[in-house]
Amino acid sequence: MNDVLPSETPLWQWVEREIREVLESYGYSEIRLPIVEPTALFERGIGDATDIVEKEMYTFADRNGDSLTLRPEGTAGCVRAGLQHGLFYNQAQRLWYAGPMFRHERPQKGRYRQFHQIGVEAVGLAGPDIDAELVFMTARLWRRFGMRGVQLQLNSLGSPEARQRFRGALVAHFAAHADTLDEDSRRRLHTNPLRIMDSKNPGMQELIAGAPPFFDYIDKESAEHFSVLREMLERAGIDYVVNPRLVRGLDYYSKTVFEWITDRLGAQGTICAGGRYDGLIEQSGGRPTPAVGFALGLERLIALLQADDLAPAGARAPDLYLMPLDAGCVAAAMELAESLRDEVEGLKVQTHCGGGGVKSQLKRADQSGARWGLLLGTEELAAGTVSIKPLRGEGAQRTVTRAEAVAWLRKSLAAGHRAPGAA
Ligand code: HAM
Repeated sequence: MNDVLPSETPLWQWVEREIREVLESYGYSEIRLPIVEPTALFERGIGDATDIVEKEMYTFADRNGDSLTLRPEGTAGCVRAGLQHGLFYNQAQRLWYAGPMFRHERPQKGRYRQFHQIGVEAVGLAGPDIDAELVFMTARLWRRFGMRGVQLQLNSLGSPEARQRFRGALVAHFAAHADTLDEDSRRRLHTNPLRIMDSKNPGMQELIAGAPPFFDYIDKESAEHFSVLREMLERAGIDYVVNPRLVRGLDYYSKTVFEWITDRLGAQGTICAGGRYDGLIEQSGGRPTPAVGFALGLERLIALLQADDLAPAGARAPDLYLMPLDAGCVAAAMELAESLRDEVEGLKVQTHCGGGGVKSQLKRADQSGARWGLLLGTEELAAGTVSIKPLRGEGAQRTVTRAEAVAWLRKSLAAGHRAPGAA
């Protein structure tokens, strides 16, 4: 679990702001969800034979003895909230959420135990058009960030019945080669054979390549859905590859699944992933309701932006550093700082707190990165003036009335005279 330090938060805020703007431009609304849910919600929704439920959840008993879990993902909670508040009743919903998720995985670069997702769920829409919309939306995000080289992988998992038939064929195939299966795959053979297809073990690749292709088992409706989606993507000029081995690590998917992948982040190269989950809402106690969504991993996205030097400069330094030069001026300086914030829109003022001589105050002023120092000593206080000291080597210090200072600050800010590093 990581701390995000003040030197990094401007980048996070920028990324979150850009994503929010894109999601809102497609008509998606934010939903804010709890970080803990009853454990059973995830067991049922994600599936109890998945890695997440089997070994990665932070589960604990609360003081009433109820089993709760820190959310490992957002879809199950979003569906729970939508059902609880009647959001899916006779209407479509386009929702997004952001926040920390928790998985007790083996940490490595790009894989953390607390990580942050921005997730999107479109509920109540059955056609491939909404699948395409989600892909367009993510592609737009990458364009907006100037990212290149993220590849879209696409697959269809078909209907539950088709998947069941395929599952039978897979079990037969792998069981016939039981001696070549690694330990993980042997365990999965009867609980979650589809996941064997996802194995990264080099020793398993030949066996996996020889497995029957799912497209021999896909149902007609899913095949049609997939082919219309592909047409829409092609028309929009979105490159993709069909990866028949893309099965996803959560059980609720059917039909379309997709991942955006980069090879520049090492082993954890999936920055965004999702798909259709037409069965989950009914399985969670609602009416049959189609749905599709995705989540992107902010740590991975940010690492990629940094690796490609696409992140903007850091936080905007203060415009002004206000120094009360004498203990008797502190209260007046605090008051002045407040009124400057009232009167000069957008002004960023940092007030020197904690006393000290002129020299040490000027040192702090310099460290703050501010463009101008504002000095308030006993003389200025008596005369109703302030002294403006350029801290970045532009011109000499001068003393002006407060009204002049306000007018000058307004003009300077409006002219875009911001401190170095300004965003
Ligand atoms: P997921 O594939 O489990 O899907 O996670 C989505 C994204 O979260 C991943 O592609 C990755 O970028 C990021 N992520 C996952 N685990 C970690 C980790 N341990 N450390 C850092 N980043 C991580 C879901 O969670 C689904 N709820 C997505 C979805 C929404 N499907 C339909 N609607």
